[in-house]
Order: sequence, then C-alpha cells, then structure tokens
Amino acid sequence: MPELPIGEGPESGSVGRMILITGATGTIGGEVVRQLTGRGVPLRAMSRTPSGPHGVRADFDDPESLRRAVEGVEAVFLLTAPTTATSRHDLALLAAAREAGVARVVKLSAIGTGETTADGEVIGEWHLEGEEAVRASGMGWTVLRPSSFASNVLRFAAGERISNLTGDGKQGVVDPRDVAAVAVEALTDPRHDGRVHTLTGPELLSVPDQAAELSRVLGRPVETVEVSPEQFASSGMGSSAARSIAIGTAWVREGHNAVVTDDVERVLGRPPTRFSDWVRDHVEAFG
Ligand SMILES: NC(=O)c1ccc[n+]([C@@H]2O[C@H](COP(=O)([O-])OP(=O)(O)OC[C@H]3O[C@@H](n4cnc5c(N)ncnc54)[C@H](OP(=O)(O)O)[C@@H]3O)[C@@H](O)[C@H]2O)c1
Repeated sequence: MPELPIGEGPESGSVGRMILITGATGTIGGEVVRQLTGRGVPLRAMSRTPSGPHGVRADFDDPESLRRAVEGVEAVFLLTAPTTATSRHDLALLAAAREAGVARVVKLSAIGTGETTADGEVIGEWHLEGEEAVRASGMGWTVLRPSSFASNVLRFAAGERISNLTGDGKQGVVDPRDVAAVAVEALTDPRHDGRVHTLTGPELLSVPDQAAELSRVLGRPVETVEVSPEQFASSGMGSSAARSIAIGTAWVREGHNAVVTDDVERVLGRPPTRFSDWVRDHVEAFG
C-alpha cells in the first residue's frame, strides 16, 4: 500500500459534505464531533439521547431512525457500543448507508480483532463480523483498531480504585483524542480508503503501570483492585459482551497485546500522546 504524505495532504479537511457520527455522546464519538466542529465540517451527531446543536436521535435497533440519520450523508463514523457486543448494529447502519448512497464509512473496531487464542477463541468476534461487512459494503472504508483507551482509568475519578482485569499484561494505551484525530482524517480524506490503522500510544503500560503514573502526577497513592471479567460484566452488560470481555482480557493478561505501532504518527504527522500527558490534561477529573 502506498505511503500517505501523512497529515498534510491537500484533501485533508477539505470535504464539505455531511458526516454522520454515531456513538456521538460517547468517549470517542464526542471527541470526533468536537474536532470536526472545529474544522467547520457539517455533521450529524447521532445517539439515542442526542445533545448539542448537531444532535440527532437514532437507535441501531430502529431501522427507520437509521434511514433518517443517513439521508444526504457523505461519510459515516461507525461506532457501536461494547455493552451489547453485536455485529447486528454495524449491519443495520451499513444497510441504511448503502441504500442512501453514502460514499465512505470509517469503522471503530479494536486491536487484536480476529486473532485467535490457544483455545481457538476469536478475539473481538463481533467487531470481526462488522469489519467484514464494512469491507464488503461497496463503500469506501477505513477500519481503526485502537488499543486500550487512556480514559478507561477515569473510573478512578468516582473515588474508586482502578479496576484491573488484565493483571500485569501491558498494552499500548492510547489517548482517545488521538483515536478521534485519526478518525477525522479518515472521514475527510479518501486516501485512507481500504486501510486498517492500528492505533496505540507510544509506550507499553499495564494497569498497575498506569496507576503508578497517575499517582506520580496526582501526588497521592492510587491503588488497583483485581476484578474478574465476570464481576466487571455483571454491571449491566449482556452475555455476549461478558464473553467478549472475558476472551479479550485473558488475551491481554497473557501478554498478547504488548504492541505499539507508528500508525498514529504516520497519519497525524506527530507522535501519539503519552499516558502521563493524558493524565495531566485530565487532572481535574480526578478531584
Ligand atoms: N475502551 C477501550 O479501551 C476500547 C479499546 C478499543 C476499542 N474500543 C471500542 O470502542 C467502542 C466504544 O467507544 P466509546 O468508549 O467511545 O463508547 P461509549 O463512550 O461507551 O459510547 C457509546 C455511544 O454509543 C451510543 N449508543 C449506545 N447504544 C446505542 C444504540 N442502540 N443506538 C444508537 N446509539 C447507541 C451511546 O449513546 P446513547 O446511550 O445516548 O445512545 C454513546 O454515544 C466499542 O466498539 C469498543 O469495542 C474500546
């Protein structure tokens, strides 16, 4: 695949037609909305509980609402929620988008999707099915496979200790703002069509490493608490989500996600954000 003259292309940011952001009130979607708004790109910010000037109400389980959401849209940012862990939502949005003549879709997937464990379990099976549908959609497509979000530790902000499902397993923890910035490039620059970007931060960190870094920046102790995937999933997740989390976290725990890539830097033309910088920018969230 040819190298992109990354981050400074003439087409970068030049698409003026409507972009639909799904998952728009969440961590990544909210940031994509913020960054696209900053560029003056027309957009619709979709969720079941819309907010802000661009908010539109639609539900992946309501085909008619999806048809309305994609009308007149040039590109879709497709983010489906882990609490349901189903490819059904990807398929529903893709069907509506294809019918409406949408040109491009950027799917947020996850690192490790499609790899198999020693027991033959597939990592991120629901994302794998979604990725396959995106590739087969006939639209221009880009797949983003981020590693663990730095913002996962925000749980600590509620005064809790940091839940650790992954033991000493290290990951290329990535800043959600970098994930969103790559999404914005892919949504606005067709040269990303047909590409898979695996998005990590610049360093490998376990959850205890992240706690130590938080402690250093905040100047107070930060503890971790071992949590089983079953305990984690019992807080309002469906059984497919629980199963997906159990497979994925075991894989990380065994060290298989100790991966850093240079994809963020190749796309954005600058290094990915360090975890310590993410913490410094979110100190107020930790009280
Ligand atoms: N956390 C990580 O470390 C990590 C790492 C790699 C990949 N990922 C992937 O990132 C994605 C999650 O991103 P996120 O953390 O930004 O999500 P999030 O903060 O949980 O937000 C989920 C969004 O989806 C919307 N939503 C949920 N159900 C919906 C429905 N039925 N119809 C329409 N909208 C719906 C929610 O809004 P409403 O509730 O208002 O509808 C919200 O805007 C998942 O696909 C996950 O696999 C996560």
